[in-house]
Amino acid sequence: MLANQPSFLNGWRLTALISAALLAAAATAAFMAPAPVDGARSVIRLTARTSVVLFLLAFTASSLWLLAPSAATQWLRQNRRYIGVSFAASHFIHAGAIIALSQLDYLVFMQLNNIVAFVAGGLAYLFIALMTLTSFDRPAALAGPRIWRWLHTAGAWYIWMSFALNFGKRVVISPVYWLPVGVVLLALFIRIAAFRRKSAVIQQTA
Ligand code: HEM
Repeated sequence: MLANQPSFLNGWRLTALISAALLAAAATAAFMAPAPVDGARSVIRLTARTSVVLFLLAFTASSLWLLAPSAATQWLRQNRRYIGVSFAASHFIHAGAIIALSQLDYLVFMQLNNIVAFVAGGLAYLFIALMTLTSFDRPAALAGPRIWRWLHTAGAWYIWMSFALNFGKRVVISPVYWLPVGVVLLALFIRIAAFRRKSAVIQQTA
């Protein structure tokens, strides 16, 4: 089992390593900011970006391995659960910084959000919490394979859409946001290409 290998590049140790790096980066961003409110905002932005990278790696892991089998894509596929939980860690730091901002400057916090964002974001966090919980063996067994599959499929697409919308709406602020939007769309094309490849193989063997 990969998870049993004593290496920080595999399994839960990988999750621990990434989470520690995320906490260190968030603390650095917070302390380097000129004021606490700027610190909270820079942690929110930083973790949105680390989250999208980790999420898309887990989201495309199996597809990349199918389309381009190699040692790297095999490693990615084998560690997708641990990278997925690292994404959750990153996004829980996002939540922590959001709560900090609401306490530091409620007016700024309310200016940056609206009721739709709260409801949509809240649902995403519900998915993230349940997907994280069922990434552990015992809760996964309790949920059963059908619920697990539904949760991880619906949740992953909902989170993908959340990133597409959250980065997409900022394109009007700066064209730089086209970069994450492009990467999020690329992940979609990778998933579609892998799905088509799998369907073609099934048709050939039928
Ligand atoms: C209720 C839940 C959420 C709240 C209240 C919230 C709040 C915020 C706030 C206030 C910002 C702007 C920070 C600033 O410009 O200073 C932000 C940025 C962002 N959030 Fe969240 N968020 C939530 C959930 C989510 C979720 C679920 C996702 C994606 C899965 C997400 C992705 C992003 C992205 C992509 C940015 C832009 C980062 C950047 O500027 O590079 N957020 N969020």
